[in-house]
Amino acid sequence: QVNVLHKFKGILFSTMSSEELLNALDSFPVRQDDVFLVSYPKSGTHWVAEIIENIPNASIALTSPIELGDISKLEELEMYSERRVIPTHLSYDLLPANIKQKQCKIIYIVRNPKDTAVSLYHYYRDNPNLPCIETWDAFLELFLKGEVVYGSWFDHVLSWEEHRNDENVLIIFYEEMKKDFSKSFKKIATFLGIHVNDSEVNEIAWKTSFSEMKSHSVKENDDVSHTICALTSDRNLVFRKGVVGDWINHFTPKQKRAFDELFTEKMNQSELARHLKEIS
Ligand code: A3P
Repeated sequence: QVNVLHKFKGILFSTMSSEELLNALDSFPVRQDDVFLVSYPKSGTHWVAEIIENIPNASIALTSPIELGDISKLEELEMYSERRVIPTHLSYDLLPANIKQKQCKIIYIVRNPKDTAVSLYHYYRDNPNLPCIETWDAFLELFLKGEVVYGSWFDHVLSWEEHRNDENVLIIFYEEMKKDFSKSFKKIATFLGIHVNDSEVNEIAWKTSFSEMKSHSVKENDDVSHTICALTSDRNLVFRKGVVGDWINHFTPKQKRAFDELFTEKMNQSELARHLKEIS
């Protein structure tokens, strides 16, 4: 397998994110009304993107990830006339500076890191754009060291920690979306300034349910312009189980202990982590 990852500023990226593009992101012409959909990989990005796309009369256009491709990306994103929703897996530190200056709206999705690790493990196994990985044990070691694509989950979430109460930032939790869709959905709609009535919410809940999205993924698979994750355009790789707590089928007691120890060490000051513990 050829080298599918490269390092940029100490973080592993897919080679589909060119160094030239990553270097140029700070000069990306941001628009005030842009919405950034940010997450560590496998946190539910496709789900939230689908939710936003299904809001009636939202007048938005979902673009492909800001960090996917080469330098021509910047021009490509200029072509949109509607309000852009731009997905990315960048941490706060790597996000273009002018997004922060312009106070663009940012939705950051967080998911329980054990489930995220399991989901990313399967992605490594199935996605030809990611390195070959032999065992779950070997993968978990890399995950804990942050030697995986987009770096350490812990550092990624911590980079957002101090911005969790910023007016232009909305934090959404995967587990809360599963538990109470309508509550999380209303947070998203209100944040975007769009009114949605109850029957519309029900319709969106149904259309964006895991089973609906999975069955549609086969048909929609060829649409490369509908790329949400910079690691694949193949939607068949995305919809695996879509549940909370699948980690229990993968972690040995020893792995769980090691994970929890690092979690405590890294996240003991984190409000986001405290909330994650409450809900999962
Ligand atoms: P699993 O591998 O645990 O099934 P992302 O979109 O950020 O790549 O995240 C992918 C994860 O979100 C996968 O998790 C996928 O199954 C899950 N997912 C995708 N759509 C979903 C939906 N509509 N409802 C619940 N989970 C969903």
